Amino acid sequence: MSYEGPQFYDNAAVFQTYMQHRQRPENPNDTLEQPITLALLGSVSGAHLLDVGCGDAALGKTLLAQGAASYLGIDGSRNMVEQAQQTLTGTTGKVIQADIRSWTYPASTFDCVVSRLALHYIADVDDVFRQVFRTLRPMGRFVFSIEHPVITSCDRAWHGSGRRQSWIVDDYFDSSCRVTHWLGEQVVKYHRTVEDYFLGLQTAGFVVERLRESRPERQWFVHEETYQRRTRIPLFLFLAARKPV
Ligand SMILES: C[S@@+](CC[C@H](N)C(=O)[O-])C[C@H]1O[C@@H](n2cnc3c(N)ncnc32)[C@H](O)[C@@H]1O
Repeated sequence: MSYEGPQFYDNAAVFQTYMQHRQRPENPNDTLEQPITLALLGSVSGAHLLDVGCGDAALGKTLLAQGAASYLGIDGSRNMVEQAQQTLTGTTGKVIQADIRSWTYPASTFDCVVSRLALHYIADVDDVFRQVFRTLRPMGRFVFSIEHPVITSCDRAWHGSGRRQSWIVDDYFDSSCRVTHWLGEQVVKYHRTVEDYFLGLQTAGFVVERLRESRPERQWFVHEETYQRRTRIPLFLFLAARKPV
């Protein structure tokens, strides 16, 4: 059996394993994904923020502490929304359970939309780009991370357990769904090329400002071995775009 994004995280065993992974020292989210996302976001002081596929909303707590004017997270998983409500207790941040694909995005409302590692669960990402464009104010920014397309292209190097020692890039130009093994279950993800993401943003009306890959920085790692392992392949891809005036 394979799961769509929110249902995947509502599987109790998957959710528990995922949260354990996120607590692990030197996990890829903390060492690779978060530093680049925060760098791309830059100052959020006074900004109204929307987080699409917010998960536990840890980012909301961080950005409110940095002076964001408001934070709204949306996520389709009941488990994640409950976790996010706990995270945001005592802050002005809000979270709602909603599907990224069908939520009614209010027009010209946010200064910044962020999405971390959620859009590779979405079949029609171009439609989400149009919705995000609509919900941003003029000059508003859209920053997102996804699993890098060299990772999502092909799952054949997966051997069931233990650390991967090699990765296969194949069927790269076949932009379509992939059923992949993760956290003891199978989940549906959508592979697209780097060019697909770039052109999708431009077609929606965005000016693409930055493209980054998860090149590791030694300062975030305790162990040289972990750092060296992360220099082998790019796990994440990042894009930052702006809605023109
Ligand atoms: C890998 S987690 C990342 C969570 C969080 N952004 C972070 O980086 O910590 C992906 C999240 O996307 C959410 N998601 C995936 N597909 C979704 C959809 N169609 N609608 C709403 N949320 C979705 C999942 O429920 C999950 O919380």
